[in-house]
Amino acid sequence: MKGVVLAGGTGSRLFPLTKITNKHLLPIYDKPMIYYPIQTLVDAGIRDILIVTGGRNAGDFLRLLGNGKGFGLAHLNYTYQEGEGGIADALSLAEHFADNHKLCVILGDNLIEGSIHSAAEEFRRQPQGARILLKEVPDAQRFGVAEIAGDRIVGIEEKPRQPKSDYAVTGIYMYDDTVFDKIRKLVPSGRGELEITDVNNAYIAEGSMSFSFLDGWWTDAGTFESLLRAGNLVAAKHRRAEVGRP
Ligand code: DAU
Repeated sequence: MKGVVLAGGTGSRLFPLTKITNKHLLPIYDKPMIYYPIQTLVDAGIRDILIVTGGRNAGDFLRLLGNGKGFGLAHLNYTYQEGEGGIADALSLAEHFADNHKLCVILGDNLIEGSIHSAAEEFRRQPQGARILLKEVPDAQRFGVAEIAGDRIVGIEEKPRQPKSDYAVTGIYMYDDTVFDKIRKLVPSGRGELEITDVNNAYIAEGSMSFSFLDGWWTDAGTFESLLRAGNLVAAKHRRAEVGRP
C-alpha cells in the first residue's frame, strides 16, 4: 500500500499565520506539522509516499523534507495542487503515483497519539473498497460525521448542524484504485470543493466501506484552537515518555 499526505489549501482559517508560510509547515511543539502525518504513514509500514502541496511556498517542502531520509525513506514524491479545489481534488493528483495500488491517505493537519498499523493491516487484507477511521468527539459538527446502524456505516454528513452520532470521520482514509473513478463523478459542493465525504458516500452506496475506531487522541490543527491543542497534546505525550509513563 502506498501513502499520500494532502498538504494543499491556503490555510485561510489560520491567517495571518499562513500569510507567508504554508499551514503544514507551522510548528506543533518541536516539529513542523507535516512531520506528524508522514510519521503516521511510516509507522504503518508505508514506504512509498506522495506529498501533495499547493500555494506559494511549495518549494519549502522540498527544502524541509528532501528525500525523506529523516523518516528512514529512500525517496519522497511530490506534486502540486493548483488552487484549493478540495480534498478530493488534491487526491485526484495522486492517480499516476498510485498506479493501481491501494492508498492510505492522510490530511496534512491530522495528528494522532497512537498508530494506524492494525487498521492498515486489516485494509491490506480487505479485497476491495475503502476503510475509514472514526473517533468519538465532543464537537462532531466540525467534521464529517458517520451515521452507524449495527456494524455498518449508512452515511456520512459533512459538518452537520445536528450530528447523527458523535463519531467524526478522521482525515485518514484507505482506498482501492476505484477512488479515482469516483472522484471523476463528483460535482463541487456548496463551498465550491470536491468533498472527500462524497467519495466516502460513494463507497457506502456500493456497500464496500468498512471502518475502524482510532485508539488514543486525534486532532486536526487547522484552527487557532486546534493548533494550540495539537501542540499541547504532543507536549504532554513527550512529558509522559520522559517519565516513562504510557
Ligand atoms: O480533519 C478531518 C476533517 O477534514 C473531516 O472530518 C472532514 O470530513 C473533511 O472534510 C476535512 O474537514 P476540514 O474542513 O477541516 O478540511 P480542511 O479544508 O481544513 O482541509 C484539511 C486538509 O486537507 C488540509 O490541511 C490540507 C488538505 N487540503 C484541503 C483542501 C481544501 C488540500 O490538500 N487541498 C484542498 O484544496
